[in-house]
Amino acid sequence: MERKCRVLRHLPNKLRRFLLLLLCATFVCIPISIYVWDQATEAANEKFLYLTSLKTEYDHYTDQESIREVYANPAIDSSVTEDKDKILAALPNLPLSYRKKLNPHVSPGHVKCARYPSLFDIQFSNIYWQALHTSNGTFYLYNSFYDNRTLSKDAPSIRILGMANRIRPTVETNCQLWFDGEKGPIISKVKEYKYIWIRGWGNYRQGVLQPYLIQCVVPPTHVKRVPESVSLVELPCDKPFNNLRVIKNEPTGGQKEDFAVCVKGLDFSYVDNSIMMVEWLELLHLLGANKVFLYEMGIHPNVSKVLKYYESLGRVDITKLTLPGEQPNARGLLHMYLKAKMVHKRQNEVIPYNDCLYRNIYRYKYVVLLDTDEFIMPRKTPNWKSLIEQLLAVTEGQPRSSYCARNVYFLDSMQDAHGKVPGVPPYLHMMQHVYRAANYTRPGSYIKCFHNTERVLTLHNHFPFSCLNNCYHLSIPEADAHLQHYRKDCVGELMKSSCPYFKAHTVLDDRILKLYKELMVNNTLHTFRRLGFL
Ligand SMILES: *[C@@H]1O[C@H](CO)[C@@H](O)[C@H](O)[C@H]1NC(C)=O
Ligand SMILES: *[C@@H]1O[C@H](CO)[C@@H](O)[C@H](O)[C@H]1NC(C)=O
Ligand SMILES: *[C@@H]1O[C@H](CO)[C@@H](O)[C@H](O)[C@H]1NC(C)=O
Ligand SMILES: *[C@@H]1O[C@H](CO)[C@@H](O)[C@H](O)[C@H]1NC(C)=O
Ligand SMILES: *[C@@H]1O[C@H](CO)[C@@H](O)[C@H](O)[C@H]1NC(C)=O
Repeated sequence: MERKCRVLRHLPNKLRRFLLLLLCATFVCIPISIYVWDQATEAANEKFLYLTSLKTEYDHYTDQESIREVYANPAIDSSVTEDKDKILAALPNLPLSYRKKLNPHVSPGHVKCARYPSLFDIQFSNIYWQALHTSNGTFYLYNSFYDNRTLSKDAPSIRILGMANRIRPTVETNCQLWFDGEKGPIISKVKEYKYIWIRGWGNYRQGVLQPYLIQCVVPPTHVKRVPESVSLVELPCDKPFNNLRVIKNEPTGGQKEDFAVCVKGLDFSYVDNSIMMVEWLELLHLLGANKVFLYEMGIHPNVSKVLKYYESLGRVDITKLTLPGEQPNARGLLHMYLKAKMVHKRQNEVIPYNDCLYRNIYRYKYVVLLDTDEFIMPRKTPNWKSLIEQLLAVTEGQPRSSYCARNVYFLDSMQDAHGKVPGVPPYLHMMQHVYRAANYTRPGSYIKCFHNTERVLTLHNHFPFSCLNNCYHLSIPEADAHLQHYRKDCVGELMKSSCPYFKAHTVLDDRILKLYKELMVNNTLHTFRRLGFL
């Protein structure tokens, strides 16, 4: 022993330490390894025994990969849970009372007139609509709003936006207004079915769905409070089969913002126009649009990505939309239908436009109805706010119901002779099209307006159908602003008439570059980079 130790002592220090370490490792590691080995063998044995017991069931599995698969956890999504609130929140016209954290406000027990409809009393149509079948006609209801605007003769009123398969409906209907804490509904007879269309424009037939704004005046006893919801019924105390939340959106921060842009239901499932969408949204932002409200009936996943990004920045609001009744909603088919049935398309469009107006009457001073290939360009001032100030000076401070800009085309072919704009990415469409028709389309045709939310009652794409008091619009002089409209070619109805002249007489109009070139290039590239387009 002593001898051995002496041997060790004679060894170099490093080697001695190494040998000691080796000795320790041997005594620690070997038992652990044996234990682990044992466990593994045991598990393997168990697995083997189990597999043997299943041999009859799985006897066609002989290879290792199949055995591994038998023991794998299938990759299902176990994070999903059924969240009732979330499900109901995706249906914006349902009253909040159906959500679990809020008690249904109508007390059970003795109820006068009619009972509050339960969730599954509601007759839904194509997800976002609720139905009323009357003795003479069917109504599909989209949303209802609280309209207490100063200029409204019957303020406050409940206005229900929807469609009905009747022209000049004669059936008498009633609103059941559901106020928190009331034992039963407050009844108000429908005062008016306001037609949101012009008969000469087509589809003026019984049986075809027509857009209406239905008005019920809130009785004097209840003008201080906003009803939670409204049911449209035929006889005053009929059992209700619909129940719409009454929307009254307050301004954020208590102050109205300036401009909301409204875009009709997008139905481009198979077209990826995400690049132009980014360009357009960035441009509207620079012009001073506070928020862009888009309705979605089917868009390409890339466009959806773009819109969700801007939604996260608070610059976009997306609302899902379908066509009511028996109209087609299948992906792609809806687009084919709207293309084939132009009058149906236009009649359906007024629903999102008026929905956008009424959701925003208390939040924005103006709504601007635009398509994604056009915008109003101020020609003497750098943005919309200063344009409106300039126009108010023209009208000597007298506000008008709308301020309308004339339409001028920037067609693809007009740029062709002039090549690309240097210093601008070639894929930015509007920045790359700076030649336009010298002439405008006819006064009043294809115009787009700033609509004063305190004054307009029903809106069409190009102008108001009706206003509180009278409609009195200002045609913005072309020198002050115009509507820049970017298209491949003219709309069909102009193809043979003025379009050839437009194409033959063009002028350079590069105000977009003068105002916003650097900012637009920077901002769009930033967004493309963020979203992975580059
Ligand atoms: C049904 O309503 C239409 C108008 O929408 C009206 O012309 C017709 O007379 C009504 N029919 C009955 C039986 O009341
Ligand atoms: C509606 O407007 C009237 C008159 O301005 C006001 O007295 C009433 O409180 C308003 N109602 C609500 C619910 O804001
Ligand atoms: C184009 O505009 C000019 C000047 O405003 C006008 O004289 C001319 O008639 C217009 N041409 C057409 C085809 O509209
Ligand atoms: C470029 O764009 C980004 C994103 O929009 C922005 O944060 C940045 O301030 C812009 N830079 C300039 C010089 O405008
Ligand atoms: C756009 O869509 C295509 C096809 O699905 C996809 O390959 C591409 O990555 C998408 N672009 C972005 C930025 O997500």
